Amino acid sequence: MMQPNPFYKDLQEEYLFRYIAGKTEEFRKEHPGEKLLRMGIGDVSLPLPPSVIRALHEAVSDQADPQKFHGYMPECGGDFLRNAVAAHYRRRGIDIDPAEVFVSSGASDELGDLQDLFARENTALIMEPVYPAYLDACIIAGRKILHLPSGWQNDFLPEPDDSINADMVYLCSPNNPTGAVFTKALLKDWVDWANRRGAVILFDAAYEAFITDENLPRSIFEIDGARTCAIEICSLSKTAGFTGTRLGYTVIPEALIRQEMNLNRMWVRNRTTKTNGISYILQKGGSAVFTEEGQKEIQENIAVYRKNAAVLSKALEEEDVRFTGGKNAPYIWMKCPNGFKSWDFFDLLLQKIQVIGTPGAGFGEAGEGCFRFSTFGSPADTEEAACRLGQLLRRIKEGTVSLGG
Ligand code: MLT
Repeated sequence: MMQPNPFYKDLQEEYLFRYIAGKTEEFRKEHPGEKLLRMGIGDVSLPLPPSVIRALHEAVSDQADPQKFHGYMPECGGDFLRNAVAAHYRRRGIDIDPAEVFVSSGASDELGDLQDLFARENTALIMEPVYPAYLDACIIAGRKILHLPSGWQNDFLPEPDDSINADMVYLCSPNNPTGAVFTKALLKDWVDWANRRGAVILFDAAYEAFITDENLPRSIFEIDGARTCAIEICSLSKTAGFTGTRLGYTVIPEALIRQEMNLNRMWVRNRTTKTNGISYILQKGGSAVFTEEGQKEIQENIAVYRKNAAVLSKALEEEDVRFTGGKNAPYIWMKCPNGFKSWDFFDLLLQKIQVIGTPGAGFGEAGEGCFRFSTFGSPADTEEAACRLGQLLRRIKEGTVSLGG
């Protein structure tokens, strides 16, 4: 008899963003005339940059040309893209060998797939609030999970300490959902903790391109000692608009060795068995992101999202609402007014002003009482959402709007 993986029973019945999409759709059907403003899931609203579109078209034409046609791609990524990524790191003063770069189908897929490198007995540390995909991947793998809550008292940036008995840890900076960003000093503490313990850090850098403060680290490999304890997972989804196109890359240093096993070689072994590589067309499109023109174009798009963040931040500042993020990150994480619980605030926003956000409690217990806005919507929707939100917050303060009222 086939025995299904029993750990699926430990998952929430539905994935957070699917659940919210369902609730939103229900509301839309019941109120067909209402204009919904979607500030929930972090999905980009701007199209792919022109240089990427051009490269994609050229790659499609290559596939029609017997001289340029590509069949299977190398499983770990085409040399042209691995070289482009390594050069991109080098321009920022980080020495990465192209053989340390693995082309992926995006960060969320990769964050789960990488679990294959770890023995089932490894304990995972999850900092909370947490992007639910990490937690779910650990649950599905049947791991022991330690939760490390963070909050307003430490600006949602937890510190390591030697009593934490974990073998692997997911760190996300700029953080999804809180928008908090590790300083170099704090990240160094995590790197030192991992090296002391022989733990491995899975560093989710999907939002690194949103950092403007030059003192903040965009890569864990800016930190001394990271090459012996960290894997960095990057994505073109939010950086270059690839959420629907799917492309990312992962860096596994040659120096990452545990019990005489080299994790880079292990991942080569894994990818060569489990994938036939990412499509040539997508890799060509992705390589355009790393050209001078591509970098300029993606920065223009990111500037639009930053402006959205400024608009939403201003609305919250005007109403004295406490929040993090929005400066070096595309998410804004606010404290719900009047001690509202996250899901109650979600319902209030949906019913009263038709603005959809993401309840903090969806990111674990430490997120209760908080609420997340994505800044990836269109500028017009963001302006309107900020205006409706400001008005609602004022009415809550005056006592003219309350839960169920
Ligand atoms: C989010 O809203 O947290 C993101 O869209 C998650 C993701 O990138 O999968």
